Amino acid sequence: MNTTDNLIPRPSHVALLDGPAFTLTLTARITAAHLAVPVAEQLATVLRRGTGFGLPIVEDTRPGDITLELVEAFDGGAEAYAISVTEGGVRLTASTAAGLFNGIQTLRQLLPAAVEGADSSEHTWVIPAVEIFDTPRFAYRGLMLDVARNFFTVEEVKEQIDVMTQFKLNTLHLHLTDDQAWRIEIHDPGSARNPSGMPYANLTAVGGRGAVEVHTAMPARGREGFYTQQDFKDIQAYAASKNVLVVPEIDLPGHVNSALAAIPQLNPDGVAKAMRTTAEVGWSTLSANLPATYEFVREVLGQLAAITVGPYLHIGGDEALVTGHDEYVEMVQQFVRIGADTGKSVVGWNEFAAVELPEGSVIQYWHGDFAPVVRQAGEGGSKVIMSPAANSYLDQKYNDSSPIGLQWVEGGPFTWAEYYNWDPAQGGLEDHNILGVEGPLWTETVRNNQQAYWLLYPRLVSLAEVAWSGQEARNTGDFRRRLGALGERLAKQGVTFQEAPDVEWAAKPDWPFTTPPSQYGTIEA
Ligand code: ACM
Repeated sequence: MNTTDNLIPRPSHVALLDGPAFTLTLTARITAAHLAVPVAEQLATVLRRGTGFGLPIVEDTRPGDITLELVEAFDGGAEAYAISVTEGGVRLTASTAAGLFNGIQTLRQLLPAAVEGADSSEHTWVIPAVEIFDTPRFAYRGLMLDVARNFFTVEEVKEQIDVMTQFKLNTLHLHLTDDQAWRIEIHDPGSARNPSGMPYANLTAVGGRGAVEVHTAMPARGREGFYTQQDFKDIQAYAASKNVLVVPEIDLPGHVNSALAAIPQLNPDGVAKAMRTTAEVGWSTLSANLPATYEFVREVLGQLAAITVGPYLHIGGDEALVTGHDEYVEMVQQFVRIGADTGKSVVGWNEFAAVELPEGSVIQYWHGDFAPVVRQAGEGGSKVIMSPAANSYLDQKYNDSSPIGLQWVEGGPFTWAEYYNWDPAQGGLEDHNILGVEGPLWTETVRNNQQAYWLLYPRLVSLAEVAWSGQEARNTGDFRRRLGALGERLAKQGVTFQEAPDVEWAAKPDWPFTTPPSQYGTIEA
């Protein structure tokens, strides 16, 4: 076995060549021009740290260099890339910077794992002669971070992006609002756009101070905080430099207590609710017969759309358990139109397929009946993001003694294997209906990035391969072997992961919890 056998996600095509291997040496350079230069800089950052070599970025190529090249004609779409490694050099080609970015992730994995550390000056950096061509199965390959139950700082979000992108994940869905907290600044729009006189500044002044409280999480109460609109722009700019699109979510018409607490006018009695920290779900709702409801949603979605770079605006729609069916339909039918009026494609959890969706809408399937989803995908042409809970919910425990995580999804707890052994094309949906795959991390029990990593890895790696590699290219036993090798890379990056007992890890993670496992109780959600 060598590094060409350990790639995750598994590329479409890998062919070892007969010729001698390539060795990266002290005098090597990285060759790139124009739009390839920022990608070359990112590769250089990783390789300089790992190898200690200077690796200048230059425009001409000579033997022994790594060459990044944008080419016009290319099969496989915008994210595809090809790598050719011979004794004389490494050549990475793609038709876009996104393709090159994907290619440099593969290049990292083609080098020995020591490249992920900072202590490797003695190492020999050899890559076998190989030809790789690679293109993703799905365009949307996502992680959802619930920043509402527990706040994650801008820096932490950027760190999550750094880790996820090595597996070619390209979408970060931020669950910005929920019962417990509101995490995105909404400016006072001025009286002309605010006839009800709603105090929008309270959304973050009051709602931003919320968090979940679960007594066996560590610590019990989640962190407070919010993103200014500038913070949100900064996150997106950083994400874009790593081929990641950010999808913001405002959860409507349930999961809204923080809004009801911030803005009295959203309540039928005109009195603001109290903020609450409970982890329970499905107990709050907007009101269909209040004009302020629609005024509020139009203002919030309008401001959010204006600062969102990507084409998607997620409006939630899940678990509106105290909203009457007619009220749900009345509100969500208007909300999807308000969302579409901003020029964005509206995304919602699959409950929202109960209303007539505007063209270009996206349904995020997480549970329940496929029939409305299939109907909207067929007649309306809506695309689907697949997040079936039992195959993709990253908040779930690995086993009964997991120190954090919840256990509410039927069939759980779940290991990396359940998140690997499934086909997104199911329930009557085919690949052409499916935009992609996303793993949601709800954070009732998560308080920082290390705890998040422990729930994410290795299960998010399973999802990355499900989203990238063709169904026919995937094999559980082989993936288990490749995961084992990956452990060393994650460990060198300082990324904690669950030490799944059925995987033979090349290196062990650091235990991220300060409290010994024997002292963890059960977590009631
Ligand atoms: C969800 O898990 N409520 C989408």
